[in-house]
Amino acid sequence: MMPAMVVEAYPTPGGGAGLFPELITRASSIAGRIDGLLIALTILCVAVSAGIYLVMIYFAARYRRGSTADRSNANAQSHTLEIAWTAITLVFFLVIFFWASNLYTTMQTGAPPEDVLEIYVMGKQWMWKAEHPGGQREINELHVPRGQDIKLLLTSQDVIHSFFVPAFRLKQDAVPGAYTSLWFKPTVTGEYALFCAEYCGTDHSRMRGRVVVMAPEAYERWLHTRESSTSMATRGAKLFRQYGCSGCHVGNSTVHAPVLDGLYGKPVQLQDGTTKVADERYIHDSIVLPQQDIVAGYPRIMPSFKGQISEAELLHLVMYIKSLDYTEGTVP
Ligand code: CUA
Repeated sequence: MMPAMVVEAYPTPGGGAGLFPELITRASSIAGRIDGLLIALTILCVAVSAGIYLVMIYFAARYRRGSTADRSNANAQSHTLEIAWTAITLVFFLVIFFWASNLYTTMQTGAPPEDVLEIYVMGKQWMWKAEHPGGQREINELHVPRGQDIKLLLTSQDVIHSFFVPAFRLKQDAVPGAYTSLWFKPTVTGEYALFCAEYCGTDHSRMRGRVVVMAPEAYERWLHTRESSTSMATRGAKLFRQYGCSGCHVGNSTVHAPVLDGLYGKPVQLQDGTTKVADERYIHDSIVLPQQDIVAGYPRIMPSFKGQISEAELLHLVMYIKSLDYTEGTVP
């Protein structure tokens, strides 16, 4: 056993051992639930296969050539039996379906708790880039505080990558031009392998990194040691002026464009009568595909910024727009 202090500062990965430590270690709040599902599925499949093979072996022995078993009046059909084996297996597999889909939606789209820490992760050939809300950036590493709910917002600069942390039992595609998200709570301090799990070109197999789960105080210290003067939202505010967004989207502009203060998270009434919630994806798409969703009551005049703004800049703009509250143009 290592002394507790050492474990806190720089432990071996979660104490897992053997051939596949990453698959044995459980280092996030959801890992145990995923394992529970996997074990249940395995038990169910083994039980069903065992049942089939046992009956098969029994009949093969009983009705083998030369056996004296009674073969007269064989039952040609039994509705009870047919209904029973259909209904019973249906119930079992429906339980698995609801169990698994519930876990999946919790992990990928479920609403995380209020005080969630959002971190932005971008895949590119061939590295993972992460950016913390305060503007701290890292490459092929992701530092997170233990015991904190964390939401990752994932995107890609080129092709599809997949963010995979086996010890967290987490995997999510990073798709160019779209945002995907994941949320989890790391529970054990340590370093865990991060892989790209989607073939993305020559160096796919080398697109690896590590996730470092730190004690909350250690994470705070780490944040302060990274030199970062500008938060993501502040960078976004600069881009907002640079690309001329402010020319139309601030309250006193002459062009009639939707005001963005307090937009994030609110439902938006669209011209075609539908409503969309203004999440990260909506804001992102409104910048690159402005003709797709026209806000009710506004003219179709915004030009597309597709190809002019990089995904990294788009993230900063989205962060800036998210940071706007009802007091005009305020960066928190
Ligand atoms: Cu990125 Cu494989």
